[in-house]
Amino acid sequence: MKDRILQLKKEKNAIILAHYYTRPEVQEIADFVGDSLALSQKAAETDADIILFAGVHFMAETAKILNPTKKVLIPDMSASCSLADSCPDEEFAEFLKQYPDHTVLSYINCSARVKALSDIIVTSGNALRIVKSLPEDEKIVFAPDWNLGSYINRMTGREMVLWEGACHVHDQIQAEDVEQLHKFHPSALVIAHPECPEHVLKLADFVGSTAAMLKFVATSEKQEFVVVTENGILYELRKQNPDKKFYALSDMHEAKAGDCECANCKYMKYNTLENILSALETETPELILDEALMEAARRPIERMLEFK
Ligand code: 13P
Ligand code: SF4
Repeated sequence: MKDRILQLKKEKNAIILAHYYTRPEVQEIADFVGDSLALSQKAAETDADIILFAGVHFMAETAKILNPTKKVLIPDMSASCSLADSCPDEEFAEFLKQYPDHTVLSYINCSARVKALSDIIVTSGNALRIVKSLPEDEKIVFAPDWNLGSYINRMTGREMVLWEGACHVHDQIQAEDVEQLHKFHPSALVIAHPECPEHVLKLADFVGSTAAMLKFVATSEKQEFVVVTENGILYELRKQNPDKKFYALSDMHEAKAGDCECANCKYMKYNTLENILSALETETPELILDEALMEAARRPIERMLEFK
């Protein structure tokens, strides 16, 4: 299957972009694996004719918005994102009516319609930097992730108005589980994603996006890490750092409660070698977006990409 995918990719001048949360075998056949920021940067610069996005729906939408004339394939159209789904565009538009003089910052994990209602898009890789770059007296609405927004408020002393959305994977992580895992491995550093709630982030030695965590581990002299984010990152962490040890929440949960969804984004796992091969063979499912919607959603994404 892998050989056939690689062959089709070549024949059709297709590029496979994959998020770090996808299955290891998917990451292996991808041309580029990254976090949300790196993937949107890569999507903006590709000269491939077809972009196959092994991630979730809003990521493929972003790639399409940045490449309106290219064919964007998504192996499973139902690969959504609970965080993006926690911010329906009509309700968000109503909410924004209360804040007409606010700049609207939206985390990239949102629908194209929500992007179109926003002034600047951010990812966990650049959100803090972008917020800090705005004048201190600028009023801001931040959506959809309440945990990330309140983390930024704590780090900057701002009082951004927050939409109350959350990622079901990160929001469900329990501080007690992190503490217990850390107790088993007391010399490990705790690394966490800012989509986690405050009581979890308080326990972290390092908070950052997926790519920032990878960089932190690669440059750290420490040998052991408790990983507080989605499990998919473990594949790249172990690949890049074969001599270091990583402890995942899911290992502890498996020991405690059998099979569980802890720290596992089921939507990312919808991408399989089977449906990637089928998407390349049939060039479906193709993501189609309305031209006017793409136009409206493009500017806030481009404003993000302009931040270096
Ligand atoms: P990053 O890729 O920005 O780390 O975000 C994680 C995530 O949840 C992607 O959906
Ligand atoms: Fe969305 Fe959470 Fe999955 Fe990321 S981990 S894609 S935020 S549901």
